Amino acid sequence: MEKIVIEGGHRLEGTVAVSGAKNAALPILVSALLTEGWNTFHNVPDLRDIRTIKRLLIDLGAKVQTSGSMVEIDASGLNSYEAPYDLVRTMRASVLVLGPLLARLGRARVSLPGGCAIGARPINLHLKGLEELGALISLEHGYIEAQARSLKGAEIYFDVVTVTGTENLMMAAVLAKGVTTLRNAAREPEVVALAEALNRMGAQITGAGTPVITITGVEALKPTSFTIIPDRIETGTFMVAAGVTQGNIKIMGCEANHLRAIIHKLQQAGITVEQEEDGLRVVGTETISSVDVKTLPYPGFPTDMQAQFMVLMCLANGLSVISETIFENRFIHVSELQRMGADITVSGTAAVVRGGTGLTGARVMATDLRASASLIIAGLAAEGTTEVSRVYHIDRGYECIEKKLAQLGGHLRRVPE
Ligand code: EPU
Repeated sequence: MEKIVIEGGHRLEGTVAVSGAKNAALPILVSALLTEGWNTFHNVPDLRDIRTIKRLLIDLGAKVQTSGSMVEIDASGLNSYEAPYDLVRTMRASVLVLGPLLARLGRARVSLPGGCAIGARPINLHLKGLEELGALISLEHGYIEAQARSLKGAEIYFDVVTVTGTENLMMAAVLAKGVTTLRNAAREPEVVALAEALNRMGAQITGAGTPVITITGVEALKPTSFTIIPDRIETGTFMVAAGVTQGNIKIMGCEANHLRAIIHKLQQAGITVEQEEDGLRVVGTETISSVDVKTLPYPGFPTDMQAQFMVLMCLANGLSVISETIFENRFIHVSELQRMGADITVSGTAAVVRGGTGLTGARVMATDLRASASLIIAGLAAEGTTEVSRVYHIDRGYECIEKKLAQLGGHLRRVPE
């Protein structure tokens, strides 16, 4: 195991490039299962979750070739319909193969994911939607058994906005007979990117990015080439890192339009965020203002930025209320931040942060991906040395984070525990 050791108190300055979005790359790589022949995907980040999904695709019979950030996938040899326990346990997004396997093979056997550190995270809406498309679904020995002689278009309403649920249903419906309408669909940029990739394969999807997505089934899809969108959460993480160190950084290769809620909240806190010709300039301030934040489905403030933003609020003047409405247990970073001197009280789905107490370096433990990012950011701002252990969580979703932050002048290094 490894840990990241951070010497706090160094201003971030310079230029950093964002990688491709993990949560766009995962469903888009999976969508290759819907075609026969070589698909080429560009700007794929080199992350643990991406390696896991590639392993799953290979297990299912696909050929996968990687060259730098280019990944080529040919699923002509698809010969298995099972996503085993060990892979789904490692990464819940493995359930994304459910829709494409049903569409292509008429059968899928996928381990039912359990809860995870941030919440129970059921997939009942994925399964209900697939049933509405005509699949027969049962649960046997911890596995979802899904079968469908043919899928038929249907009207599907999501009780709750679900990102991977929308993606799974979209991938199941592209080869179904007739028209499928997804209502109360997720509007995340990653959903739009998947729809664009599928349309390039020959799918007929309209409305992605709105709450109503319409999919007209087609006979078959053909392979394509597609570039993964920039990671908006990695971008937001760098923005906050600049904010907490009173830094001045330029973030290259990001998409400001995907970051409106985050930019708005940072600006309210007093951080300068400006679009420059080739990137976003982020400049911190000596006096951070406290702002309230409520996580919501896109275009609201993303739950995946809540932990990082909380660190900024620890340094703000005054009180801020951070409400988490997406996941029921996503304040696990709070007790670690408290060890660094943060004054935070959690009551139900809200955390009250009393800013201005300053942070001091401590040994802390990462518990999930975004919590790890928040602890590293806290370490950059803290007085003294912070050691973040269990950093394997961070490698799931951030490409070379310690190298990128070190390139910006942060003092941090990865060492064996
Ligand atoms: N939900 C249900 N039933 C379902 C599906 C979801 O009740 O069938 C509930 C969940 O329990 C949760 C809410 O709906 O309360 C939203 O969950 P969603 O399904 O949207 O989450 P997800 O698709 O499993 C994706 C991202 C997460 C991100 C969330 C919310 C991927 C691979 N994962 O998860 O990313 O937090 O959307 O935006 O796209 C991360 O990258 O660190 C991460 C956790």
